[in-house]
Amino acid sequence: MTAGKRAVAVLISGRGSNLRALIAAAAADDYPARIALVLSNKPEAEGLEIARAAGIATLVIESRGKARAEFDTEMDAALKARGIELICLAGFMRLLTTEFVQAWYGRMINIHPSLLPAFKGTDVHARVVASGVRFTGCSVHFVSPEMDEGPIIAQAVVPVPPDATADNVAEAVLEQEHTLYPQALRLLAEGRLVIEGQRVRIRP
Ligand code: GRF
Repeated sequence: MTAGKRAVAVLISGRGSNLRALIAAAAADDYPARIALVLSNKPEAEGLEIARAAGIATLVIESRGKARAEFDTEMDAALKARGIELICLAGFMRLLTTEFVQAWYGRMINIHPSLLPAFKGTDVHARVVASGVRFTGCSVHFVSPEMDEGPIIAQAVVPVPPDATADNVAEAVLEQEHTLYPQALRLLAEGRLVIEGQRVRIRP
C-alpha cells in the first residue's frame, strides 16, 4: 500500500544503518511515509546496497570537486523530478547551501548523535566521554541553515557510565537512533509537527 504515503528521500554518505531502520519502519502498512529514493553524494556509500537490496531507487550525485551551489541545484532538481516531498538526512556528510535549506525548510530533518544543543558537529562521542557528562543521546531536528541548530523534534537519552568509551557510547546511542528516527519521520509525515520559532509543537 503506497497510496497516501508521503514520498521521502533519504540522503546518505556512508554506512546507512539509520536508512535501514527507516526502510524497516516504512514497510509497515500503516506507516505514513515511503522511502522513494536514496541519494548519496558518494558512490561507495554502503547504504546504497541496503537500498538496492530493498528494491528502492538510488541515485548518486557526486559532490567531490563540485561547488556547493552546483551540487545543491542538481540535487534539488533530481528530488523535484521524482516527486519527493520530505527529506531525511541520515549520515549525510555534506554541508548544504542556505538556499537549499530554505527551500526545504520544514520538510527536511536530520538525526544527530547527541542531546542538542550540546555537542554539535563531528567526533561527538569522544568529546562526550572526555567531557565527563553522565547522559548523552540523540536528537532529530529540522534542518536550518546553521549546522545542527534547527528546531528539535525528538530526543532520546542514553546514560554514560564512568568507564564508558567512545565506542560503546556510539553503539548505545545508535541503537536509540534507530528507534527515534522512524518515530520522528512518522510525526512529520502525519503533518503533526508545528514549528513555532525554535520550538516544535506536536499536534495530538
Ligand atoms: C549517525 O550516528 C547519525 O546520528 C549521524 O551520522 C551517523 C550515521 O550513521 N548523523 P548511519 O550511516 O545511519 O549508520
